Parts: sequence; C-alpha cells; structure tokens
Amino acid sequence: MSELQTITLNNGVQLGTDHLDLWLITADKSQTVIDKEAPGIIETWQAVVKLYKAGKGKIRAIGVSNFAKKHLEMIIEATGVVPAVCQIEAHPGLQQVELEAYGKEQGIHFAAYSPLGNNITGRPRIVDSQQVKQIADEIGADTAQVLIAWVLEKGFSVIPKSVTPSRIESNFQEIKLSKQHVDTINELGKKNPVRYNTPFLYSPQWDIDVFDTPEERDASLKVW
Ligand SMILES: NC(=O)c1ccc[n+]([C@@H]2O[C@H](COP(=O)([O-])OP(=O)(O)OC[C@H]3O[C@@H](n4cnc5c(N)ncnc54)[C@H](OP(=O)(O)O)[C@@H]3O)[C@@H](O)[C@H]2O)c1
Repeated sequence: MSELQTITLNNGVQLGTDHLDLWLITADKSQTVIDKEAPGIIETWQAVVKLYKAGKGKIRAIGVSNFAKKHLEMIIEATGVVPAVCQIEAHPGLQQVELEAYGKEQGIHFAAYSPLGNNITGRPRIVDSQQVKQIADEIGADTAQVLIAWVLEKGFSVIPKSVTPSRIESNFQEIKLSKQHVDTINELGKKNPVRYNTPFLYSPQWDIDVFDTPEERDASLKVW
C-alpha cells in the first residue's frame, strides 16, 4: 500500500488525509485576539478558490460559515464562484428567511450548527423548551429529535453535538414532523428569537461585530 500523502498546512500541521471533502472558511471564535492585518473575506475566498482549482481533486468542495446574504453576494460577485455550503446557526429561534431564500436561489447547501441551542452565554436552550417537549411527547420522540427534524425539513444538513453516547445514538434516529407541527414550531421560534453564538457576548468578549445585530452595536471592529 502506498504511503498516505497528507495535506500539510502552512503552519506545519499535517491533516492526516490526502483530500478534504469540504473546506469551509469561518471566523475563528476560539481566539479573542483579533488579527487586524488578516485579509478580508473577498481576498480569503479568492485564495480558497485558487487552491481549490489548483488542487486537482484534493479539495472536493469549498464553502463558508457564518456568512450573511451580503457576504455571500460580495464573494460571488468578486469571483463568480458560489460556495457549495454555507454553515449557519439554525434552530426555531433563528430563522434566517432571507439568507435561506438567497442560498436556495444560488444553489448553496445549508448546514445547521447549534440546532439544539448551546449554553455558551447561559441563555435557555431550545432543547429544554417545554413547548417543544409537548410536541415531542405527542409524537413519542424527544426534543432533540424534534429540533433535528425541524432543520432537516428545510433541506439543510445538521450537525448536533453531544458527548453523551446515548444522545449521539438517539440524535441519529430520524423522525418526521407533520406540517402542523412545523408551523407551530416556526411560530414558537419567531416569538422567542435567539442567537446563541455571538462572539461579542462571550466571556471573554471578542470585540467584533460578526452578524450585524443590535447586540453587537458597541463592538469596535466589524467582520466585513
Ligand atoms: N461554524 C461555527 O461558527 C460554529 C459555531 C458553533 C458550533 N459549531 C459546531 O456545531 C456543532 C454543534 O453546535 P453546538 O455544540 O453549539 O450546539 P448543539 O449541538 O445544538 O447543542 C449541544 C448541546 O446540546 C446537548 N445535547 C446534545 N444532544 C442532546 C439531546 N439529545 N438531548 C438534550 N441535550 C442534548 C449537548 O450536551 P452533551 O454534549 O452534554 O450531551 C450540548 O450541551 C459543533 O460540532 C460545533 O463545532 C459551529
């Protein structure tokens, strides 16, 4: 067997694979130190496209994460290359209707992160919602399965996270929601809007406006 040709990043890290199925660009929310000299999203996307085209199949698809409609428009207009995937926070409390419509029109596939809500900023998680639990009880499912089904119903893929083996297993058990349940959940979410992943609200705070929301108004820097 021939030796695996691993992809090596320019910081020396070896990925241990000879190809990437999907390469996404995103803001790195694990750091609070912001590199103000870093290239903007257009330059970054141009560089990704160049590598994708030169990669001879080593990179099978390229995409983005946490992009709003205007960011997608900017990179598509600059390069003519449409991202294959846009990974976004998606659950009933964050319904990005305009972004979703634009993505569908452009043929962009959406992948939903934080579909259950997380507790980074201590807000109540959607997965603990009594109203969603009521629907779950009615159909003999659990709340996580209902929320995952709600996202799948949109045609998105979904990446729930759990460190609990039994939950990992149950999260894979797909259930089907009726249109009436989908509509009820849509309305519940609209009444309780929430975005869980806002770096400006993290502790320690990341002093940047990523999503152009009122909560981020006082940030010194903007992502675009
Ligand atoms: N692109 C981005 O900017 C971005 C941002 C955030 C997250 N992500 C990615 O998206 C993925 C998921 O996001 P996330 O972790 O923020 O949120 P999430 O998957 O919606 O929620 C995770 C939380 O839900 C709990 N949970 C999982 N299954 C459950 C179940 N069946 N019943 C009750 N609780 C359950 C987990 O607890 P236990 O683990 O204790 O079971 C954990 O507290 C991760 O892989 C993450 O890397 C991407």
